[in-house]
Amino acid sequence: VSEGEAPVPEDESLAALRAAAAGCRRCPLWKPATQTVFGEGPDDARVLVVGEQPGDAEDLSGRPFVGPAGKLFDRALEELGLERARFYVTNAVKHFKFERRGKVRLHRSPDPSERAACRIWFERELATIRPHVIVCLGAIAAKAVFGNKFRLMEERGVWQTLPDGIRAFATVHPSWVLRQRGDDARHEAYANFVDDLSLLRGVRL
Ligand code: URA
Repeated sequence: VSEGEAPVPEDESLAALRAAAAGCRRCPLWKPATQTVFGEGPDDARVLVVGEQPGDAEDLSGRPFVGPAGKLFDRALEELGLERARFYVTNAVKHFKFERRGKVRLHRSPDPSERAACRIWFERELATIRPHVIVCLGAIAAKAVFGNKFRLMEERGVWQTLPDGIRAFATVHPSWVLRQRGDDARHEAYANFVDDLSLLRGVRL
């Protein structure tokens, strides 16, 4: 562990991991961000959902997927009769990366070094929760789970089995759905998003 890197506890308790991640200095994203946004949900969840990184609302509240993307995700789960409280929800990168434009903070994609620096936290969450199923929201999450060769638009909505036996699939990021221009495109993107997530209907929770 080099100077500035938070020690990562080995004791596998989520509370200890969360506390250690709160002081993480492994990459420069901690500085402009308000706080680390760690995952949340039951520590024995069978389903783990992973997104990209917190957005503005998440950075301020300290909780994953509570802003517009999170609301869309909640709506999709509700339509499918799935309870988000049963899932452990987290992000591949735990600090909000942004660019200031006047009063607004615009999301910027985390670069490979930031993603690599943050990886330890996701790995420890996985080792602690040991989910049966992983759902990746968006390409950054999918690459964190399946590797950099993963092609989201070709492989979305299809079950894969990871080397450790965990079953996983990816779908688009809810922010991508919200960004589609025009009602038709947005409705279609949303319908396909819900269709991908309907794979969860067959999963024992
Ligand atoms: N987008 C993400 O990927 N994660 C969040 O927590 C919020 C928005």
